[in-house]
Amino acid sequence: MNAARRDDPTAETDRTGPDPTRIRAMFAKVAPGYDRANDVLSVRIHHRWRRTLVRMSGAAAGQRVLDCASGTGDLAIAFAHAVGPDGAVVATDFCREMLEPTPGKAARAGVAVPCSVADVTALPFGDDHFDHASIAFGIRNVADVPGALAEMARVTRPGGSVLVLEFGQMRTPVLRGAYRCYARHVLPRLGGWLTGQPGAYRYLESSSAAFPCGDAFARIFAAVPGITDVDVRPRMGGIAYVYRGVVG
Ligand SMILES: C[S@@+](CC[C@H](N)C(=O)[O-])C[C@H]1O[C@@H](n2cnc3c(N)ncnc32)[C@H](O)[C@@H]1O
Repeated sequence: MNAARRDDPTAETDRTGPDPTRIRAMFAKVAPGYDRANDVLSVRIHHRWRRTLVRMSGAAAGQRVLDCASGTGDLAIAFAHAVGPDGAVVATDFCREMLEPTPGKAARAGVAVPCSVADVTALPFGDDHFDHASIAFGIRNVADVPGALAEMARVTRPGGSVLVLEFGQMRTPVLRGAYRCYARHVLPRLGGWLTGQPGAYRYLESSSAAFPCGDAFARIFAAVPGITDVDVRPRMGGIAYVYRGVVG
């Protein structure tokens, strides 16, 4: 097996999606350099995309939010500012190492974000517990995508929203070609240099290029039990998409 195949959590498996054990192990190794790599590789644009998601959610002061596959907590912290001191945001992820920086980052940002280790496909919360549930750059890594979205809808009250931020493919062919060139050749080198894990950034490119986006993902989302309306917003011509599903 060559290095690229060995590093790829989708390689050598007959699963329908990525292997959770390999995904967790990959993120545990990436965790120490994850934030620095994010900021460099996206020139901090990911923070703008997170703010778009928070605006689309309509999150208001005093509300409760669950951020799934929360990683180092950037989206959870953005939500904590939106819901204010009377609200509550919980960050969950199945990789403890990824969650570790979150409490310190939240404290430095002047908010509190409690964390717990949990798989998005089996959330340890009761029905209708939250006003909003979100997942940023996580759903692409989940083996059972409809199952994860259904769990997020289950823990969200009727009238609340399930929010997804995920990479996609650019819609204009010329730009798509140029971006793929960057993603294939620059991302793994730069991401590898910043984190010591080039395989994780090869996987980022291959999984993003293959993941359904725009209307294709919206159809999957709309078919999830409990989800009614789905709204889709491409960012930067389709490099990323924000999706909002209303819980019925
Ligand atoms: C690319 S990171 C995104 C982290 C963070 N949401 C962000 O926007 O920076 C993907 C995260 O998804 C988590 N993840 C993948 N599959 C998961 C699952 N089934 N349940 C919970 N977390 C999962 C990984 O551990 C990792 O922290």
